[in-house]
Amino acid sequence: MEQFMRSVLLSMAKSQSANRWAKRYGLRLGAQRFVAGETIENAIDRVKQLNRQGLRVTLDHLGEFVSDAAEANQLADDCIDALRAIHHAGAEATLSVKMTQLGMDIGLDVCMANMRRIVSQAKEYGLWVNIDMEDFPRCQQTLDIFNQLRQEYGNVSTVIQAYLYRSLDDVLGLSDEGVSLRIVKGAYKEPSEVAFPEKQDVDANYVKIMEAQLLSKGYTMIATHDEKIIDHAKTFIAAHQIPADKYEFQMLYGIRTDLQQQLVQQGYPIRVYVPYGTDWYGYFMRRLAERPANVGFVLRGILH
Ligand code: FDA
Repeated sequence: MEQFMRSVLLSMAKSQSANRWAKRYGLRLGAQRFVAGETIENAIDRVKQLNRQGLRVTLDHLGEFVSDAAEANQLADDCIDALRAIHHAGAEATLSVKMTQLGMDIGLDVCMANMRRIVSQAKEYGLWVNIDMEDFPRCQQTLDIFNQLRQEYGNVSTVIQAYLYRSLDDVLGLSDEGVSLRIVKGAYKEPSEVAFPEKQDVDANYVKIMEAQLLSKGYTMIATHDEKIIDHAKTFIAAHQIPADKYEFQMLYGIRTDLQQQLVQQGYPIRVYVPYGTDWYGYFMRRLAERPANVGFVLRGILH
């Protein structure tokens, strides 16, 4: 039943008409639990609050699967506004972006032009930009964009999804290059031809990939709320004496805030992924799919 709900919610996440409706409707249905607000001002207030609690942030101006070049260019401007706001606030934050937000589905040239504007501005401010990973058909092109931009500018990282069969090889292939990678389990609906269907295999692959990246020359962002994996990471880090400037834990805004605070108290570096904006629908649906029990609180919110 849970598997079925997950599959339905992930299919709904891609509905363009539902997305248009949600943008008009505003931040409702409990989405406020996972989204920091609709404006950059809301988001920066939240970033400062989290920084005061000892948490670093990566800010995400929501938007994805854009098919119009003018909209992609506008979203790139919004990302640059976000960088400016981080800089002026003196916040401890990076920026996370999605390639389909910036024009990947329209053309590589549109996406690269937008990314060069964003990454060069970030570099001027001494900030990093993370390229989020989307669904499998866009994986190779996203890695190509990442490799091109890190050679041109340096201040970019990307994401590796443990549910993909290819991911361990991707990480091993980059291990001598000193790259910065966020390791996640993976949030999209993928067929068994490309991704492990069973959760236990995804979890086991996550641990292999995380260990390989922690032992590489690069920087490791351990992005999960899975306490078993977090405990395993702590033991591995201690056993291999991996210094605190080589890794950080990451979690999503609104999820396991107790665990986020616990890691701060224990002295571990931890960053929270903070999304904001009006294009919250797809992001929200993926959060519901990760834990179909979350649908209960949405229904309670509607009934009240
Ligand atoms: P798992 O799903 O096993 O959950 C472990 C525990 O965490 C659960 O038992 C529950 O307690 C809690 N939990 C997890 N999700 C929850 C939810 N939605 N609501 C309430 N509790 C929840 N994916 C991707 O494909 N591309 C990307 O670029 C990113 N980027 C990214 C950044 C960061 C900072 C994080 C933390 C995650 C991502 N993800 C992602 C999402 C990732 O792929 C994955 O879907 C989620 O992190 C959930 O998986 P967990 O690792 O938490 O494990």
